[in-house]
Amino acid sequence: MYQTTTSLDISRRPRRLRTSSTIRQLVCETTLTPQKLVMPLFIIEGRCNREPIDSMPGQSRLSIDLALDECRQAIELGVRAFALFPALDASKKTPRADEGLNPDNLLCEATRTIKDAIEECCVITDIALDPYSSLGHDGLIDKDGTVNNDETVEILAQMAVLHAEAGADIVAPSDMMDGRVGAIRTALDEANYTSTLILSYTAKYASSFYGPFRDALDSAPADAPNVPKDKRTYQMDPANSREASIEAQLDIDEGADMLMVKPALPYLDVIARLRAQTNLPIAAYNVSGEYAMIKAAAQNGWLDERACTMEVLTSIARAGADFILTYSAMDYARWWREDHQL
Ligand code: PBG
Repeated sequence: MYQTTTSLDISRRPRRLRTSSTIRQLVCETTLTPQKLVMPLFIIEGRCNREPIDSMPGQSRLSIDLALDECRQAIELGVRAFALFPALDASKKTPRADEGLNPDNLLCEATRTIKDAIEECCVITDIALDPYSSLGHDGLIDKDGTVNNDETVEILAQMAVLHAEAGADIVAPSDMMDGRVGAIRTALDEANYTSTLILSYTAKYASSFYGPFRDALDSAPADAPNVPKDKRTYQMDPANSREASIEAQLDIDEGADMLMVKPALPYLDVIARLRAQTNLPIAAYNVSGEYAMIKAAAQNGWLDERACTMEVLTSIARAGADFILTYSAMDYARWWREDHQL
């Protein structure tokens, strides 16, 4: 090895731990396997139907048959959990989000099909009104423009039971209404779905990084009188982290099985904070805008997509997330396998 002639008088040299790839791997603190990733899928009606999403290069809305193919490919690569979001035709959306309580709606049908076909997979369904609401909000809107908490919670609880009936392993309330976790747990238990897990979107911020997702579902708040322009009366203020701990404590008390922080990258401190607060599993959602940023920069030749994506996902795990919802799940799994010569 290269020997220096002059040397500093220091005995501690942290670089010794970085000398070779073998040593670096021995001391590596975070290993993110593909089994730790959840792949979100956007579902549309029809058969053999694939609609690319412009603001999310590489992602498409898929009819159930194509989504099933995608799940099979993902499972081959070690990604076995799927978060389903229905992209409904505008004609199915109403101000009261009625389609959400149709037991044969697109989401229930997709859940049934995927769970029937692939036994070992885990299906996570989203509990919120926005995919079904013509007003683009996660809750019901009163005449004066208030997002009505308690009436919404009642609907969410019914929705969770429908999803459990359809075969969902995990229901994930993403709406940020107060008291929904407790109401959902009670409704599931009363309907005998005591094994259905609740993954609560505990600290979901009123983030501008959801833009591409709202393109995908066409679910942005409607531009209409007495419809709030944003979701700030229910999603959290990006400036706050102590408040995340309050939300976490409530979710724990109400019976959440897992907590989520969303988005991920701008909120690593919140992930670390909740990791220190609770022993429950913590998920992070690497959201659509985070995905789009890397894609756009990579398309311009400004960033190395593979290296940046792997760095970002590893960092989210390092901050304390046990598992990560990411649109890069399949890519990551492929790269990970290449790196490990599988
Ligand atoms: C809504 C919901 C949103 C996302 C997941 N569920 C958007 C929103 O709150 O407007 C965003 C996910 C993403 O951006 O990838 N219930």
